[in-house]
Amino acid sequence: MLHGKRILLVISGGIAAYKALELIRRLRERGASVRCVMSKSAHQFVTPLSVAALSGDKVYDSLFSLTDEAEMGHIELSRDADLLVVAPASADLLARMAGGLADDMAATVLLATDKPVLAAPAMNVRMWLHPATRRNIAQLKKDGVRFVGPDDGDMACGEYGPGRMAEPLAIVAGIEALFADPPPPAPLLLRPADARAVAANGNGGGGLAGRRIIVTSGPTHEPIDPVRYIANRSSGKQGHAIAAALAAAGAEVTLVTGPVSLPDPAGVKTVHVESARDMFSACFLDLPVDAVICAAAVADWRVAVEADQKLKKAGDEPPVLRLAENPDILRAIATTDARRRPALVVGFAAETEAVVDYATKKLKTKGCDWILANDVGAGTGTFGGDSNTIHLVRRDGATDRIAVEHWPTMSKAAVAAKLADAIAGFFSRSPAKPPAVKSGARSSKLKEVRP
Ligand code: C5P
Repeated sequence: MLHGKRILLVISGGIAAYKALELIRRLRERGASVRCVMSKSAHQFVTPLSVAALSGDKVYDSLFSLTDEAEMGHIELSRDADLLVVAPASADLLARMAGGLADDMAATVLLATDKPVLAAPAMNVRMWLHPATRRNIAQLKKDGVRFVGPDDGDMACGEYGPGRMAEPLAIVAGIEALFADPPPPAPLLLRPADARAVAANGNGGGGLAGRRIIVTSGPTHEPIDPVRYIANRSSGKQGHAIAAALAAAGAEVTLVTGPVSLPDPAGVKTVHVESARDMFSACFLDLPVDAVICAAAVADWRVAVEADQKLKKAGDEPPVLRLAENPDILRAIATTDARRRPALVVGFAAETEAVVDYATKKLKTKGCDWILANDVGAGTGTFGGDSNTIHLVRRDGATDRIAVEHWPTMSKAAVAAKLADAIAGFFSRSPAKPPAVKSGARSSKLKEVRP
């Protein structure tokens, strides 16, 4: 499985650095090529000579070495690998990675890379358990870094607990698992190809100035009783990215979001809701608008009668929950009276098979203008992930003809920018119509509006 793979091994300082030598041997035995970067403190534990001899390549360790940069610049070094492995990953290097520092060759290649990163932490147990390290690990996990170990055991410092670097063969198994199930290509950033596509499309030039747009995002929570609810796994990343991209293109955006752990996008009026009915009300309170983008994963059902008090275990029979259908926000907006219907109503279709066929059907049943269909089948990593593959299905209002555009896989931010660009194109082509103006004060206070 590792045959022909190019691994860039970053060795930081720690007593476990000696195990990096065995790791190099195990990887090369399996047909991988290994190029090594050593931090300054790693030199205290293993010599560059042994690392170079075992890897069969020179060791890169200085950011400011003219020879290193002439032979292979640090950007090229990190991009020329299939995978970056940090072993041992010291508390200090993990902190620098989490903070995005680039103060030596090791930290710089890790910041400059667009490849997956696997780290094998090694440190004293108290350092591992310190809240600062816990924060750094949580941040790195969020950024997509994978971890192997550390193991529990006696430590070189005489203490016992988690902190020992995983054994070389366990790290090899972690590397094989990562190649078998690679993380999505890039975090929520424009990758170069996406950036070029977006630049070519000319987005971000304020093409939506004066337009009012509602975006729904995230899951909804449907209460069962005061402490329990029904939910789904939507992260809100795509909807939030769309709200941010539309605002960047000059639109006045209201983001109606279910519970997510994302910050409110800058320059966007964000209304926080819990349930589908709250989301429905918040959207209708903000009409009329020029466009609505329904990116939320709205729960199809809620519990018909929400219990006032926490349900108790009583008797042998568990309670039976009777479900009621939630209002369909997208359909309600798309089919509302002509005075309030936005000029452009866009929905999403998360499908696991025959994606375009189902999306085309959905376009008709919902009465909306565009559907962004995405494959959320097992293994696509779309739900909660950072990238998305979109098929844009559009209905031409005048001719009723359907057109399908297949977009390449790109980051959710790039999808958002491309969508903002398509929406700006729609408004630049559509006959001039005064922008939607909301009468009366805008309020984010909710009141029930019946579908
Ligand atoms: O029917 P389905 O859930 O597959 O439709 C998905 C599209 O409809 C998404 O755009 C979603 O935001 C929207 N939707 C909605 N209200 C619902 C259910 C779905 O706005 N109750």
